[in-house]
Amino acid sequence: SKGCKLVGCGSAVPALEISNDELSQIVDTSDEWISVRTGIRRRRVLSGKDNLTTLAVEAARKALEMAKVDSDDLDLILMCTSTPEDLFGSAPQISKQLGCKTNPLSYDITAACSGFVLGLISAACHIRGGGFNNVLVIGADALSRYVDWTDRGTCILFGDAAGAVLLQGCNSEEDGLFGFDLHSDGNGQRHLNAAIRENESDNALDSNGSVLGSFPPKPSSYSCIQMNGKEVFRFAVRCVPQSIEYALEKAGLPASSIDWLILHQANQRIIDAVATRLELPSERVISNLANYGNTSAASIPLALDEAVRSGKVQPGHTIATAGFGAGLTWGSAIVRW
Ligand code: ACO
Repeated sequence: SKGCKLVGCGSAVPALEISNDELSQIVDTSDEWISVRTGIRRRRVLSGKDNLTTLAVEAARKALEMAKVDSDDLDLILMCTSTPEDLFGSAPQISKQLGCKTNPLSYDITAACSGFVLGLISAACHIRGGGFNNVLVIGADALSRYVDWTDRGTCILFGDAAGAVLLQGCNSEEDGLFGFDLHSDGNGQRHLNAAIRENESDNALDSNGSVLGSFPPKPSSYSCIQMNGKEVFRFAVRCVPQSIEYALEKAGLPASSIDWLILHQANQRIIDAVATRLELPSERVISNLANYGNTSAASIPLALDEAVRSGKVQPGHTIATAGFGAGLTWGSAIVRW
């Protein structure tokens, strides 16, 4: 059977940086509270002419450049985002802005903070079974657009970014995806969501008892991010180590073979708890959430890209990665860089 391997990565963040001290000027919080509870010190936020598609395109270009692959040789672009600039999907626009003359199949994947891991595994399945060869997986989110900036319980956590990897078909001896594990559970949706606003009057019957009174429907909008932080924390600490253990089992590898743990960057305490459960020393744990906060689907490729470009992650290293978040969704993958 065909293998697949990671051949490039890239990332991009908006220019505007907001420190914890600056946040404390708009909500009742402090640098100390935020950094002790989360490890976050600053985050990037889209502003002015920035948009998510251009960030995604910049991250993608860097990944293609590293892999020395031309955009015309792409077969598939997966845009993992829950905050697209077009509700109908943004991936074809990314293909257009990359200038792909060959029009590779391009579509979006919506799975919040698990989006990148789900995209990575979807890409691998397309390569192994679908005849695709060069697949760009982009994780990009702008949760700043859906945060209630008056809610100190959530607005301190999130930032905007984009990251990308290029996955390429290879022979089975070179295969760089050793094992994976994916899950979802709709029961936990109440703990974390940004649901469509229900318009009560739309559902009401008119005086004749007819539903026609609710026609035509009003345009909808989404509410801001609603989160029960304690429940999300508990879910992550329970499910993520277990998922990585399953993926390791499928890979036939012990936890001690992990060179780098690159988790979705949500909270330093979650990262530390998972590393402790897997008995991984902190020297093998990648963390950049101090600088960017929780960037949802972008956080894993952004952390990977920084770790590769700084020389921490070297060719041949084994990486355990895991995403977790709204849905609920979670999953992990054991890959070789
Ligand atoms: N500054 C100061 N005080 C605050 C702040 C703030 N920013 N936020 C909350 N508080 C207060 C609360 O009002 C509360 O005060 P009270 O005791 O007087 O009522 C107190 O601090 C404790 O609040 P909790 O919400 O219980 O604090 P907790 O210890 O649970 O920490 C946190 C909150 C940091 C959000 C934590 O629960 C967490 O990180 N959870 C995981 C969240 C997460 O990772 N979400 C993203 C998932 S990924 C995705 O898909 C989006």
